Amino acid sequence: MTTHILVLHGPNLNLLGTREPAIYGQTTLAQIDTSLKEMASQAGVKLTTFQSNHEGALVDCIQSAAADGVTHVVINAGAYTHTSVAIRDALSALAKPVFEVHLSNVYKREPFRHHSYLSDIAQAVIAGLGAEGYRAAVRSILQQPA
Ligand code: DQA
Repeated sequence: MTTHILVLHGPNLNLLGTREPAIYGQTTLAQIDTSLKEMASQAGVKLTTFQSNHEGALVDCIQSAAADGVTHVVINAGAYTHTSVAIRDALSALAKPVFEVHLSNVYKREPFRHHSYLSDIAQAVIAGLGAEGYRAAVRSILQQPA
């Protein structure tokens, strides 16, 4: 199977660079996506990205992923991490390895950020490394056979 990584970004991540930079850093979403696409292209692997502020749009994208040949999902679901059974169920139905990423260390923050609907179905959880967390997830996938 040819590796195809889907990188999903949830609500408010389109604001990266200006959104609470002390927490989320100064790197923009476009810079993150470009850097991940460069990593994948150097490895000869397909990588697509999608950001939405809408839960249903993220669910639709996850549902389409099987037909699109997606083999791995890297997801920062933003606030939906802590609320969305629908995104969890869509990822469970897809049944591909999930890498959950958070820019901030959610466990150092408010208690409502400590629960994730995704962590127990994820292969790995990376939190607190900033934009490097996405790169760590992609690097790990590139080291695994599809
Ligand atoms: C986040 C953490 C979430 O709690 C928050 O709602 C986000 C971003 C992170 O990347 O640190 O939007 O997922």
